[in-house]
Amino acid sequence: MINIPKGTKDVLPADSYKWQYVEAKAREISRLYNLREIRTPVFEHTELFSRGVGETTDVVTKEMYTFLDKGDRSITLKPEGTAGVARSFVENGLYSTPMPLKMYYIIPAFRYERPQAGRLREFHQFGVEVYGSTTPDTDAEVIALAHDFIASLDLKAKLYINSIGCKTCRKKFNDALKDYLRPNLERMCPDCRARFDKNPMRILDCKVPECKEVTAGAPVIVDYLCDDCRAHFESVQKYLKIAGIPYKINPKIVRGLDYYTRTVFEFVSEEIGAQGTVLGGGRYDGLIEEIGGPSTPAVGFAAGLERLLLLMEKSGAEFPQEPAPVVYFAGMDAACREKAFEIAVALRKAGIPCEIDHMNRSLKAQFKYADKLQAAFTAVIGGNELSAGVMNVKNMSDSSQHTVPFDRAVEFFAR
Ligand code: HAM
Repeated sequence: MINIPKGTKDVLPADSYKWQYVEAKAREISRLYNLREIRTPVFEHTELFSRGVGETTDVVTKEMYTFLDKGDRSITLKPEGTAGVARSFVENGLYSTPMPLKMYYIIPAFRYERPQAGRLREFHQFGVEVYGSTTPDTDAEVIALAHDFIASLDLKAKLYINSIGCKTCRKKFNDALKDYLRPNLERMCPDCRARFDKNPMRILDCKVPECKEVTAGAPVIVDYLCDDCRAHFESVQKYLKIAGIPYKINPKIVRGLDYYTRTVFEFVSEEIGAQGTVLGGGRYDGLIEEIGGPSTPAVGFAAGLERLLLLMEKSGAEFPQEPAPVVYFAGMDAACREKAFEIAVALRKAGIPCEIDHMNRSLKAQFKYADKLQAAFTAVIGGNELSAGVMNVKNMSDSSQHTVPFDRAVEFFAR
């Protein structure tokens, strides 16, 4: 017996309609906001993530599925979607197309993390990336899209926002943070000691209890924003108010990936345990240049589909009914089944979903199966019906019976 790898999950036929529902909502909302889909490979050159996501992040240092392919290239299964989209933007010269360029994707992503409820090693993201605009209304629009997506699933999650500034304010802040942390450096984990010189802000994201204790009273970046970044942050808030989207400022949000600048945000639910962040994102004005493209501002987010589905189950959100066949054909014997097969061919050509018996079940067992399928109609073909060229159709919702000639089947069920 070969088991599924740790931290991965099958989506079984009985559940896949729930995924399709969430994915359909993602596509619907994307259309509403004039986004088009982008598809990039599941794996990329490792260097893209080490440069793009950041050398000091947990994702890059501990969590990547990295391997050498048979040509000795270092390849990584994508741990998130943004870097691949950025690579594609540069490689395909999409910066020469009219801006803004608004894109979305629905992808599997891979992180070698300790699995728990809402945290997997293969998980799925609905992500959005908008390129080319620096205006704060763009940040607000991306947040509004995220808000509408969550609301469209009948879910509630709280929106927290922060600004982590630009290079200029980050430098002032990093100096202040280092001054604050220096006396306690010895108490901190080896990762954080290494981050101290390379990327001190990353220390604020550490989950080790001792480090959390040390950083509890640390300075917060909103107090160090330059005039431009402060004005941008205030303007984003003004637009969120215009959109009627409630939010709280959480000065502790720094996000786990290095490419962010200015606005960062997370939608958090308290109903699904420790892994309550169902969606996270922000502005990243430096990434495109970092990976070799022309300086291009960008803002985006990604939502974790497993976490959203978990939240839907927990909060009793409604899934629409799984679509059932319109009609199930029950045939008494081989000749009747053959007729059912022939009519099913005609119905499917006309776009009418239907099902026939493939198991040589008794008529009684076929009725039972029809019940389970929840087809809207059951059509019975027995010996008498076969010679009369008709079938007995039962409407399962009101139990009304109809005699329908074989050559009128398409017409009858198309109604
Ligand atoms: P992230 O915060 O690393 O951001 O991930 C986004 C979302 O993916 C999380 O809020 C969470 O719902 C889900 N997620 C992350 N890791 C796991 C996991 N191990 N198991 C289950 N779900 C998980 C990004 O990935 C950025 N690329 C988002 C972005 C796009 N920023 C700008 N554009």
